[in-house]
Amino acid sequence: MLFKTSIAALLLNVLGASATWLAYEEYLSRLPKTLSKHQGTRPKISFEPKQPFSAFPKSPARTRDCYVQSHNDMKTDDSAYILSAINKCNNGGHVIFPQGTTYVIGTALNLTGLKHIDLDIQAYIQFTNDTDYWQANAFFQTFQNATTFFQLGGEDVNVYGGGMLDGNGQIWYDLYAANIYILRPILFGTIGLNSGSISDLYFRYSPQYYNFVANSTDVVFQDINISGYSQSNNTAKNTDGWDTYRSSNVVIQNSIINNGDDCVSFKPNSTEILVQNMHCNGSHGISVGSLGQYVGEVDIVENVYVYNISMFNASDGARIKVWPGSPAELSGDLQGGGGSGRVQNITYEDMAITNVDYAIEVTQCYGQKNLTLCNAYPSNVTISDVTISNVHGTTSTKYEPITGYVVCSSESVCSNITLTDIAVVAPDGVENEFTCGDVDETLLQGINCTTTNLGTN
Ligand SMILES: *[C@@H]1O[C@H](CO)[C@@H](O)[C@H](O)[C@H]1NC(C)=O
Ligand SMILES: *[C@@H]1O[C@H](CO)[C@@H](O)[C@H](O)[C@H]1NC(C)=O
Ligand SMILES: *[C@@H]1O[C@H](CO)[C@@H](O)[C@H](O)[C@H]1NC(C)=O
Ligand SMILES: *[C@@H]1O[C@H](CO)[C@@H](O)[C@H](O)[C@H]1NC(C)=O
Ligand SMILES: *[C@@H]1O[C@H](CO)[C@@H](O)[C@H](O)[C@H]1NC(C)=O
Ligand SMILES: *[C@@H]1O[C@H](CO)[C@@H](O)[C@H](O)[C@H]1NC(C)=O
Ligand SMILES: *[C@@H]1O[C@H](CO)[C@@H](O)[C@H](O)[C@H]1NC(C)=O
Ligand SMILES: *[C@@H]1O[C@H](CO)[C@@H](O)[C@H](O)[C@H]1NC(C)=O
Ligand SMILES: *[C@@H]1O[C@H](CO)[C@@H](O)[C@H](O)[C@H]1NC(C)=O
Ligand SMILES: *[C@@H]1O[C@H](CO)[C@@H](O)[C@H](O)[C@H]1NC(C)=O
Ligand SMILES: *[C@@H]1O[C@H](CO)[C@@H](O)[C@H](O)[C@H]1NC(C)=O
Ligand SMILES: *[C@@H]1O[C@H](CO)[C@@H](O)[C@H](O)[C@H]1NC(C)=O
Repeated sequence: MLFKTSIAALLLNVLGASATWLAYEEYLSRLPKTLSKHQGTRPKISFEPKQPFSAFPKSPARTRDCYVQSHNDMKTDDSAYILSAINKCNNGGHVIFPQGTTYVIGTALNLTGLKHIDLDIQAYIQFTNDTDYWQANAFFQTFQNATTFFQLGGEDVNVYGGGMLDGNGQIWYDLYAANIYILRPILFGTIGLNSGSISDLYFRYSPQYYNFVANSTDVVFQDINISGYSQSNNTAKNTDGWDTYRSSNVVIQNSIINNGDDCVSFKPNSTEILVQNMHCNGSHGISVGSLGQYVGEVDIVENVYVYNISMFNASDGARIKVWPGSPAELSGDLQGGGGSGRVQNITYEDMAITNVDYAIEVTQCYGQKNLTLCNAYPSNVTISDVTISNVHGTTSTKYEPITGYVVCSSESVCSNITLTDIAVVAPDGVENEFTCGDVDETLLQGINCTTTNLGTN
């Protein structure tokens, strides 16, 4: 194994440290530590300190091993080997991608028929740079035209191993800069998974979001390390850490995210979601929404608990974004409003912020800068029973001295939004100065509200 590794290191020298191989270099540098840490066994999943909304089903031990072959040449598609091992070990087996081995995936893998299986990824896996192939073949998920490199679903599936998935994002960041309509695949598609865990993995350079979790229940993500920035002047856009959609009883915990969009985002019909012990850097915060974008659709986000978050260098800490009742436009390619639904029973507790533009941002006028217009057509997505407590730290200079924003479109569609134990200070020393509108200010404890007719984005 070590021999193979040094061959790969040699190959890397020949290839040079181009953007394509940055993640692989990191993988190699982590190998010694990973080798000693990794036992080839399924990591223990423990929910601490908060418990999920419902108990997770037990996952029985696996009874046979399947090793995945590889060309190990960093260019030939290994997908057929991967499918073959998975087929052999489905229904009770343990699929091993050994340490130090490299795999290339150049085929869209439909892994939705998994059952009672563990994928033990100790290796480095890179998706190919064939953007034409992926645009034609990545799995179309309909929601926001999202596509995924692969889709993983079924029942009782555990993915772990200390290895790395590299989305080869640079080529996509550059392509997107030239054409915003290209479809950039999501690195990890959890689609229709009922009961499972994804843990102890490194995700690098996703072309778009890192995780899309749809049509899934009883799924936990733990110890995931996400990172990947553009090496060119074209920034890596829409690189959300997680987006949940039509899913229930999902836990996301103990993870590190370095990205440039939402750290975690709850899209339509996300219910019973627990997010805890997260370190988010460079993001757009932990966000509900956006919701109510499409007329005729009913978007529901309820029973969400976000606990113990460290938020650095972000546009927002705790965020709820809802479109107003009439059409609005955030930008040429982001328009909406008029959809209905509800945001209910959302708790954010214990968040430390550093250099964050708004510690808290609740808006029901998403995309509508003219509050007169927003108020004339209140949102059809109601917001109720939101508690945000113990948020502390310093904001950035962006909106100084304002450190937060809570603006509804009408008091009649917003109720019981409670803020307690908030201590957020702007760099100039002013504390808890918020922009407020159409909310019950008596529930915004310790906040100094000023009103404005300026919207937000
Ligand atoms: C993926 O596989 C499932 C069976 O697990 C099948 O029902 C579905 O049609 C497949 N999807 C695509 C896009 O091939
Ligand atoms: C795509 O990857 C292949 C195989 O690694 C490499 O030879 C080629 O130069 C890459 N193309 C681009 C445009 O990066
Ligand atoms: C989820 O399930 C619904 C209903 O079966 C299906 O229409 C949809 O394509 C699935 N996937 C996503 C991403 O919504
Ligand atoms: C999805 O793609 C279609 C066709 O390119 C486009 O008209 C539509 O606006 C896109 N929708 C979203 C939400 O991006
Ligand atoms: C996660 O990845 C980042 C970026 O490479 C690195 O700085 C950090 O040490 C990693 N953390 C862990 C716990 O592996
Ligand atoms: C990035 O932009 C800067 C300033 O516009 C320019 O000097 C530099 O050459 C650009 N770098 C690349 C890789 O295009
Ligand atoms: C969300 O749930 C509501 C209520 O059950 C339903 O009307 C709506 O169609 C669902 N939306 C999606 C995208 O599944
Ligand atoms: C609201 O969420 C909390 C967790 O934040 C949960 O304990 C409670 O059961 C939820 N309420 C309802 C009515 O589901
Ligand atoms: C906001 O919209 C109202 C109603 O259309 C209009 O009268 C007003 O001039 C607008 N205000 C701004 C600042 O554009
Ligand atoms: C949205 O709410 C308004 C009242 O504010 C109502 O007149 C309208 O019918 C609603 N639209 C939809 C699509 O539910
Ligand atoms: C306000 O919402 C919280 C949940 O965030 C809930 O525990 C509380 O009972 C609600 N209060 C009222 C008066 O409805
Ligand atoms: C509240 O804000 C107003 C307007 O900015 C300011 O004059 C006042 O000093 C602030 N009060 C506190 C207690 O910070």
